[in-house]
Amino acid sequence: MSKISIIGAGSIGATTAFALLQKGVAREIVINDINQEKALGEVLDLMHGSSLCRPCNVTLGTLEDTKDSDVVIITAGLNQKPGETRLDLVDKNYSIFKDFIPKIAKASPDAILLVVSNPVDVLAYMTYKLSGFPKERVIGSGTVLDTARLRSLLGKYFEIDGRTVDGFVMGEHGDSEFVPWSSLRIGTIPVKSFSEQYSIEWDKETEKVIAEDVKNCAYEVINRKGATAFAVAVALVRIVEALLRDEKTILTVSTLLNDYCGVSDTYLSVPTVVGKNGVEKVLSVDFSDEEKEKFTSSARIMREYIDRINGK
Ligand code: LAC
Repeated sequence: MSKISIIGAGSIGATTAFALLQKGVAREIVINDINQEKALGEVLDLMHGSSLCRPCNVTLGTLEDTKDSDVVIITAGLNQKPGETRLDLVDKNYSIFKDFIPKIAKASPDAILLVVSNPVDVLAYMTYKLSGFPKERVIGSGTVLDTARLRSLLGKYFEIDGRTVDGFVMGEHGDSEFVPWSSLRIGTIPVKSFSEQYSIEWDKETEKVIAEDVKNCAYEVINRKGATAFAVAVALVRIVEALLRDEKTILTVSTLLNDYCGVSDTYLSVPTVVGKNGVEKVLSVDFSDEEKEKFTSSARIMREYIDRINGK
């Protein structure tokens, strides 16, 4: 029986609970939020529709009620306001994490912790430290969302099924993320060759524009509706399904790196095999020189923020 706890009943937490209920992924969902009334409103709204879904008990819970969860999805904290970067949230959100991460770790010592709150790579690292869990069981949602955005935007650009795009966004889930275009394929075909077969323009400038559009997706949504929810919820359900079903699928979750392209002791998103044990294998990518520089630059920024918090 799969128990999933969601810490934080904001737009992401509530929408993720709805997506999990809709897909029948969990048998039990516990929702926790510092604003218990708001969280209860979400729980009631979800529970009222649950008789039309596969059986799933959706309840409001304290941190202690998250006991023995299989997966704890952590969305608590502030989210970006218009004009804010994800990294701008680090101090406030880390101060919240310091309080509750040890409590959820104590309640569910065998759980996989899935960190979503931003800046997700830095907070995933701090969750790893605060929880004392093995690195395999502390995962950041990372650029799974950005990779979905990339595939969706490329699907739209070429008017094809975005699921046929085999490529990733790597690095920070944030402004220093990048697309290793040299390894991106569409239906096993390199994107330049694909574009020629479709007689659709494709050059370095196109790559730059699309990568920039992917990076700015969250800002485009936040500026209009205040917060993102649907795409990140779908990405989180994808990760949770891979964990609970032991899929051993490849997702760009944020994971603790050890001598990855020279980067160590930092959480970043790279292609990763995900299964019932969490991160089961970290896969290396053949970078071009330019891509290697982008990767190490992203790692440097994450390290700076981790060191800043550790210095506190
Ligand atoms: C986004 C938030 C979840 O990219 O960081 O939508």
